Amino acid sequence: MAANTKDGLTRRELLQGLSAGAVATGLLPARTARAGAAIKRTGAGAETYGPGPVAIRLRVNGAEHALEVEPRTTLLTALRAQLDLTGAKPVCDRGACGACTVHLSGTPVLACMTLAFDAIDHEVTTVEGLAQGGELHPVQEAFIAHDALQCGFCTPGMVMSCAALLGRNPHPNEHDVRNAIAGNLCRCGTYPQVIAATLAAAGGARHG
Ligand code: FES
Ligand code: FES
Repeated sequence: MAANTKDGLTRRELLQGLSAGAVATGLLPARTARAGAAIKRTGAGAETYGPGPVAIRLRVNGAEHALEVEPRTTLLTALRAQLDLTGAKPVCDRGACGACTVHLSGTPVLACMTLAFDAIDHEVTTVEGLAQGGELHPVQEAFIAHDALQCGFCTPGMVMSCAALLGRNPHPNEHDVRNAIAGNLCRCGTYPQVIAATLAAAGGARHG
């Protein structure tokens, strides 16, 4: 016999509700939720999506894209598997290394820890979208000039964290740069060059 919780939910119903709540960050837990489904607040109340693929639109690097994703699909998976944008790297896939850093409306986020659903209505920028008009972003230029990469696995995430820093703070000091890349791990030890490059890029940089 199924064990009931205090308010009359069976253990199975409770776990299904918890699953739906965990899948969708910022979404309502609901007694009627289907396992793996997302419940999203709307002006009229709440709507349930999934658990199967759902059509969504994402704005990435200035272009609109139509995708079909399950509510559990991460932004990193959507970018790499559906949009063929492989600049953001799946290194740890658990929020520990920063290799998957992209911008969500200008704020650096870990794409492996962000649901594609949560990127709806945001401007997503990946390292592929940082250059503008055929010109590299100043941080990219400075990384090259300062030899701020070796194997390159951390580099897209490093560049995105440093570019976001210059976007919010045009005149950072070394401490600011160290803070900005605190979540970006580099097994090759390029931190001194990354810091030097970012400080150099701050002079006369296009901050966006
Ligand atoms: S792959 Fe996202 S933080 Fe490591
Ligand atoms: S350049 Fe190799 S991990 Fe950073």
